[in-house]
Amino acid sequence: MIKDQRPPVSANAPSTPGVSSTANREFKFTRQDFDRVKQLIYDYAGIALNDSKQDMVYGRLAKRLRAHNFSTFQEYLVLLERGNEAEWEAFINSLTTNLTSFFREAHHFPVLIEHLRANKANGTLNIWCSASSTGEEPWSLAITAAEAFDSLKPPVKIIATDLDTNVLKTAQAGVYSFDKVDKLTPSQLNKFFTKRSDGQFEIKPELRDMMTFRRQNLIEPHWSIRGPLDAIFCRNVMIYFDRATQLKILERFAPLLHPNGLLFVGHSENLYHATHLFKLRGKTVYTLEK
Ligand SMILES: C[S@@+](CC[C@H](N)C(=O)[O-])C[C@H]1O[C@@H](n2cnc3c(N)ncnc32)[C@H](O)[C@@H]1O
Repeated sequence: MIKDQRPPVSANAPSTPGVSSTANREFKFTRQDFDRVKQLIYDYAGIALNDSKQDMVYGRLAKRLRAHNFSTFQEYLVLLERGNEAEWEAFINSLTTNLTSFFREAHHFPVLIEHLRANKANGTLNIWCSASSTGEEPWSLAITAAEAFDSLKPPVKIIATDLDTNVLKTAQAGVYSFDKVDKLTPSQLNKFFTKRSDGQFEIKPELRDMMTFRRQNLIEPHWSIRGPLDAIFCRNVMIYFDRATQLKILERFAPLLHPNGLLFVGHSENLYHATHLFKLRGKTVYTLEK
C-alpha cells in the first residue's frame, strides 16, 4: 500500500509539476512544526525523516488536522505532546511508508526454501517477519513454506509484526485485489487463494494456521518475540532508521537467531556496520558471525 504522498493542492493553486506550492497550503506549516514532528516520530519509531520529506509530512498530517477541525499544526502537536493515545496511533500510521509486494526481492525465496528443507530436523521452524506491512511479505513466506514441504500444513510458524496497526489489519485479513497478486503463477493462485465473488483473492484458511500477527515497534525496549528463530526477515525498514538505531536492532536480532539461522534484509540495506554480528552469506542474506 502506498500512501498518497502528494501535498494537497487548493482549487485555485497553479500547479507546477515537481514544485510544491507552500504558499497555497491550507494550513501554515513552519520549519519548527516540521522539526517537532521529526523529533516525535524519531523518538517513537526510530524513523529519521530528512528535509526532503516536508511535503509528504504536510500532506499526510493535514488530514489529521482536518479530522480534528484544527486550524494550526501547533494545536495538533499539542494534542500529541499531551499523549493522546488514539491520535498517536493515527499519527504513526500516517507517517509510515508501507510499500510492499508479493515475492518482492524474489532471489530470497529459493534461499529460504533450501534453508527450511535443510533444517527440517529442528522440528517446527520459526520465522519472524519484522516489518510485515500489508501482508504480502509474510504471506509470500507462508506460500514458500508450503511449497518447500509440498504441504498446506508445513512444520513452519511465522510471526508477522509491524508498528502500523492499519497495515496489520490488512495483512491479517489476507484479501487482495488482482493487481496485487497478478505476479503469482496461476497454480499458486489456485492452491493458496480462494477467488471471492467480489473478484478479490483471499488466502486459504490452511495457510493461516502458520501465521500470527502482532504489533511490535522495533525500537521498543521489550520485544514479545522469542528465539531461537530459523529466519528473520527485516526488509526495507532499516533504511528509515539511522545507523545507531539499526545497530541496536541488529544487536537484539543476533541472540534471537538459531546458530545457523538467516537474516534477510532489503536491497538497499547492508550490515557493514555490524560485521562483528553478521556475515554475508549471499545477496542481502546474512548468518551469525559466530
Ligand atoms: C516499506 S515497508 C516494507 C515492507 C516489507 N518488509 C517489504 O520489504 O516489502 C516498511 C514497513 O516498516 C514498518 N515500520 C516502520 N517503522 C517501524 C518500527 N519502528 N517498528 C516496526 N515496524 C516499522 C512500516 O509500518 C512499514 O509497514
